[in-house]
Amino acid sequence: MCWSFRTAYSPLTSLTVKQLLRQGYLTDDLHTSVIVHNLDLLQKRIGYLVEAFPQDTLHTLAVKANPLPPILQHAVNHGMGLETASSGEIALAEAVGCPVENIVFDSPAKTRAEIEWALRLGLTVNVNSSSELERVAQVGFHNRVGLRVNPVVAEASRESTTMVATARSKFGVPISRCKELLQQYPQLTGLHVHVGSQVATKDDLVEASRRVVELADQFPNIQWLDIGGGLPTQYRSDDPGLDPEVYFQALKEAAPTIANYRLITEMGRALQSNCGFAVSKVEYVTDDRLIVHLGADFALRECYQPDSWYHDLEILDPQGNPKAGPRKRYDIFGPLCFSGDRLGKERELPEVEEGDLLVIHDCGGYTLGMWSRYCSRLMPEVVGLESGKLKVIKSRETEADLVGSWA
Ligand SMILES: Cc1ncc(COP(=O)(O)O)c(C=O)c1O
Repeated sequence: MCWSFRTAYSPLTSLTVKQLLRQGYLTDDLHTSVIVHNLDLLQKRIGYLVEAFPQDTLHTLAVKANPLPPILQHAVNHGMGLETASSGEIALAEAVGCPVENIVFDSPAKTRAEIEWALRLGLTVNVNSSSELERVAQVGFHNRVGLRVNPVVAEASRESTTMVATARSKFGVPISRCKELLQQYPQLTGLHVHVGSQVATKDDLVEASRRVVELADQFPNIQWLDIGGGLPTQYRSDDPGLDPEVYFQALKEAAPTIANYRLITEMGRALQSNCGFAVSKVEYVTDDRLIVHLGADFALRECYQPDSWYHDLEILDPQGNPKAGPRKRYDIFGPLCFSGDRLGKERELPEVEEGDLLVIHDCGGYTLGMWSRYCSRLMPEVVGLESGKLKVIKSRETEADLVGSWA
């Protein structure tokens, strides 16, 4: 039940918005938008993931999907590690008290200083290339060091912003070249694979891990496998999604010897996206065009690649009730100064009036984390829903904060 939950059309959304309105959100010109993240749901999804995998699996949450410290803290409090992709993300992981042995460092652009820092701290480091491996060897293999394998499970025609397992990908060593490196560096104790985010099918994910397990089976020094993230999430009612239990069963069937390794996962989107929704006041309605307060600053991929990325949108009246009645087609524009700042084109909605509330559903991952500073708009407040109660988990940015961020 929890795994297939979406914020879209959940009665909880309207109830939560009503609660927010009672607290003064969206009622004045300061709080023109707000983001809600359901931490109770995140906890349930973590529990579901944990149950689907062997007990000793290290599940890490991909920080990039949503780097807000209270959300990371919540995940760490519930036993998760953190997957990081920069020194900033490592600092976030440390700031929320994630045990170092539960922090994984992945990045295709690690500097010598970052490598040295991560190894000395005791993080698990996944090496992206043979050149990076040489740098690691210079520092010394202090702790868990794994090799990122590009399993090349996708044809060139499937290249996209988040597919990273084609032959031309910048991520990982093509699998045909891994044997040589594993022979040369017996200090490597693990293998890492991540196929892509949202774009990978169950068959891609399973085949990628099968190839990696087959490789690992030839090297007794390989003790752990990091199978990455990439479990797709449901943005539309007909999106297939992938239940972790079904995923792990399929992995075991395709690669029975996977049972010989300690596993690491790095889920982001599938844990986070369905936990969040955002609400913006509709500032202007001009014929069939709406202007709202969240656009490409918040939903970067959705505005730039509307055919690939999508969120369900819903209209509530100013009291937070879902609107009904005859539907019209609207283009929904954000507040930024370029015409591509469009959240949706010709989207059917009940007739919209100034002051109504636009809900952007299932946006708990890869939205605020990709916030763009263009036009220097202020980041909205983020409110967490925990034990049924609302609490601020990130205050609304002020003009002074903004000036500071550019200073
Ligand atoms: C190395 C790595 N691991 C994990 C993830 C998380 O992917 P997802 O959010 O699709 O689970 C990403 C996303 O880009 C990634 O690059």
